[in-house]
Amino acid sequence: MFKKRSPNIVFRPRRLRRSPACRELVAETTLSPSDFIYPLFVKEGLSDPIPIPTLPGQRQWNVRGAVLEARRAYSLGIPAVLLFGIPLKKDAEGSSAFGKNIITDTLMAIKESVPELVVFTDLCFCEYTDHGHCGVLDKDGDLDNDKTLDLLVKQGISHARAGVDMVAPSGMLDGMVSALRHGLDDAGFPSVGILSYAVKYASAFYGPFRAAVEGSLLQGDRRSAQMDPRNRHEALLEARLDVEQGADMLMVKPANTYLDVISDISREFPEHPLVAYQVSGEYAMIAAASEAGLLPWHEAMEESLIAMKRAGANCIISYYALMYAEYINQA
Ligand code: PBG
Repeated sequence: MFKKRSPNIVFRPRRLRRSPACRELVAETTLSPSDFIYPLFVKEGLSDPIPIPTLPGQRQWNVRGAVLEARRAYSLGIPAVLLFGIPLKKDAEGSSAFGKNIITDTLMAIKESVPELVVFTDLCFCEYTDHGHCGVLDKDGDLDNDKTLDLLVKQGISHARAGVDMVAPSGMLDGMVSALRHGLDDAGFPSVGILSYAVKYASAFYGPFRAAVEGSLLQGDRRSAQMDPRNRHEALLEARLDVEQGADMLMVKPANTYLDVISDISREFPEHPLVAYQVSGEYAMIAAASEAGLLPWHEAMEESLIAMKRAGANCIISYYALMYAEYINQA
């Protein structure tokens, strides 16, 4: 007769999952508020902060509000913020991007109030041009790469004068890192760093951001500058070029839909800190599904962020930075 006996299982991975303390002990990935760079949208001429409808929980700030929010982030253990500016005046050249403007005002105010905080600024023209492209256009209406580089350097130097720690060029222009490195050095700012948006895909997930910065393309798209989502090997080329040009940190963007790319870049360039950008659409999807009662918000947020660290990211840019820090500080 068949004799019932327990199966001969030697390896039982469940042994290490039996208690919370044991799971904590053997966890391969950690996530903490110190991993985050928190993006802030600062708008010129605002009397009060206003909610951004496409990004539930996020606001457009005035300078004062941005300083208070930056202070709050720092007090919760978040070491860095990333500033995006929304000027009142947009024109073909993006001339509000230079000299004293909403970004330089905010930089100086944050540096005065929270000097320890690391401040990054987005370097791009799509928030400043009336046509919405990431630079100046040539006579055929195409982005003029090399002419835009000169303007990008000018924008970078004005942020450097106002005290920025790291500039983050986001336009995927060829040669942008080397132009900025030389420009900043020649202007006397050798210690201002460069976080390159090295690997940025032409993604539908930037949708909610466009409303946040009040910028959308009048014509065309960004596919001639940003990477094709079908390409994986090309990401290594983009990262290598930026490393050779002097980038201090590299970025992959978006994050949740490009975990394979995060993994590749972290393995290929382990000596360069890698930043994953959880973009507006990735944030908004979790928010919308959670608000509809389809997902547990905190857990879904945490899992989406852990995924980036597990794939190899060292730091994360996410609109969830503050919500995550509050959640962890309360736990
Ligand atoms: C360009 C820029 C964009 C984002 C960050 N910087 C928009 C774009 O490239 O089209 C998107 C960020 C997000 O979706 O959260 N200045």
